[in-house]
Amino acid sequence: MKISKLVFIGAGNMAEALIKGLIGQGVLPGSCITATDVRAERLAEMETRFGILTSRDNRAAVADASVIVLAVKPQQMTDVLAELKASLPKTALVISIAAGKKCATFETAIGDGTHVIRVMPNTPALVGAGASAICRGRWATEDDLATAEKLLAAVGLVVRTEESMMDAVTALSGSGPAYVFYLAEMMLEAAKRMGMDGAVARQLTAATICGAAKLIMSTSDAPSVLRDRVTSKGGTTAAALAVMSERKVFDAVVDAVLAAEKRSKELSAT
Ligand SMILES: NC(=O)c1ccc[n+]([C@@H]2O[C@H](COP(=O)([O-])OP(=O)(O)OC[C@H]3O[C@@H](n4cnc5c(N)ncnc54)[C@H](OP(=O)(O)O)[C@@H]3O)[C@@H](O)[C@H]2O)c1
Repeated sequence: MKISKLVFIGAGNMAEALIKGLIGQGVLPGSCITATDVRAERLAEMETRFGILTSRDNRAAVADASVIVLAVKPQQMTDVLAELKASLPKTALVISIAAGKKCATFETAIGDGTHVIRVMPNTPALVGAGASAICRGRWATEDDLATAEKLLAAVGLVVRTEESMMDAVTALSGSGPAYVFYLAEMMLEAAKRMGMDGAVARQLTAATICGAAKLIMSTSDAPSVLRDRVTSKGGTTAAALAVMSERKVFDAVVDAVLAAEKRSKELSAT
């Protein structure tokens, strides 16, 4: 699809990440992008930083749009959809990044035939290292999926999935950065108890997490194989892993992710 006008409804954190990626990667020029928001000062900032167009009038902004990214908070969505319904071009592709909002919500609110793609991004998109899963609604086409993929790829990895997996995606990669931040917190606490300088410990921890993730991405070997490779019998890593095994860290983390999936199902049902 040729994108003549891409409109972001809501110019918050995620919209900023996407706009920065799209312009930085040369996917779209700022002149093809319009962002709307309720905050005038935020729009002025976005205009200055990215050279995009802005508007406080959602209806006018979408009237001639080819792609609309709904980037307001989930609880703001009902009002936004009611406002946009009459002005959205029938041919426009509607991409929602709102957590927990199903494709059917948009199809029902806007009308039959609406092309909807639902995305679950995550916060590392802010630094171009996001992980997004996308799925299509009833009337969205292969071309729509390809368009959404192209846009989201500007801020990191994109995978396609079925909508039935979106709660699992939310639990895994949506909430996932928090699990890694928690691991970093634990490693930093240990570093403190070992007397290490905080700034040095922070750098080592971040680079270790980033490096380990890159190793996983560089190979088809299972993470357990990579772990075995750095675990010598009777060595330091083995001593650490023995404590984790004794304290059932594996089971706790699996249960934690499943709890997130359950909560996502509860929230998206409301
Ligand atoms: N941030 C994440 O990690 C993350 C991850 C996955 C998915 N998401 C999803 O991404 C979406 C955006 O999240 P975010 O963190 O970017 O939120 P955000 O920073 O709060 O951005 C939303 C923006 O939309 C503005 N807004 C509110 N009502 C509006 C309206 N009627 N018309 C136009 N703009 C309006 C908000 O203004 P006010 O602040 O004044 O209300 C705010 O500036 C959410 O639906 C969230 O579920 C976020």
